[in-house]
Amino acid sequence: MPSAPGPQVNPSILSADFANLQAELARIATADAAHVDVMDGHFVPNLTLGLPVVEALQRVSPVPLDCHLMIEDPDRWAPAYAEAGAAGVTFHAEAARAPVKLARDIRAAGGRAGIALRPATPVEPFLDLLPEFDMLLVMTVEPGFGGQGFLDVTLPKIRRARAAIGDLDVRLQVDGGVSAATVERAAQAGADVFVAGSAVYGAEDAAAAIGQLRDLAARACAH
Ligand code: DX5
Ligand code: ZN
Repeated sequence: MPSAPGPQVNPSILSADFANLQAELARIATADAAHVDVMDGHFVPNLTLGLPVVEALQRVSPVPLDCHLMIEDPDRWAPAYAEAGAAGVTFHAEAARAPVKLARDIRAAGGRAGIALRPATPVEPFLDLLPEFDMLLVMTVEPGFGGQGFLDVTLPKIRRARAAIGDLDVRLQVDGGVSAATVERAAQAGADVFVAGSAVYGAEDAAAAIGQLRDLAARACAH
C-alpha cells in the first residue's frame, strides 16, 4: 500500500531522556513515526540500544517505529527488528553484503525496507535497487551523534535521488541537523521524510516543533 502523501516528521529518540523513554514517546504522539537509532559501537563510534529495547518501545509507542540500524552485519540482525514489529527497518548500504536479499527479508517479516547512505556514499550504484525498497535515507550528517550541523554538500545527492525515484513508491528521508533553519532546503531538494532529534526533543513543546517542521516542509515542497 502506498504511504500517505505529504511530508512526514520522525523525531529521533536519540535526543530523548533515555531514563524515561515511555514518557518521551508520549511527547511525540503527533509525529508520523519515532526514529530509533540503533548503534553498535563498530559501524559508528557510539553505542545506543538494540533489539530488547526496541521490543519494549514497540509495546508502549503511540506511533510506529522507524528503526535506523547503524550496525555491522545488518544481513544477520535487521530482519529481527521487523519481526519485533518495527514499521520500518533501514540498514546502511556500506554495511550490507546482500542488500536486495536483506530488503526482501525485511519485507517478508512485515517491515518497510530502507537503505541508508553516509554523506560520502554516492547514490548512483544503488539506483537500480530502488524498486526493492520503501525508503532511501540520505544522511545529512556523519552518522553517530545527534546535534551536528546539517551538511549542505548532501543537497545535490538528494536532488539526484529524487529525480531517480520518479514515480516509484519510495520515500526519501533525510537525517541529521534537520531543524526549522534547514528543513526547507532539504524539502526543496526533494526529501519527504524528516528526522529531527535535537530540534524536537530540545524544544519546550515537542508537538509544536513537529507541526512547524511539517508546515515548513509542506510549503517548501509546494514551490
Ligand atoms: C545520527 C542519527 C540521527 C540523529 C539526529 O547518527 O542517525 O538520527 O539522532 O539528531 P539531530 O536531529 O539532532 O541531528
Ligand atoms: Zn538516524
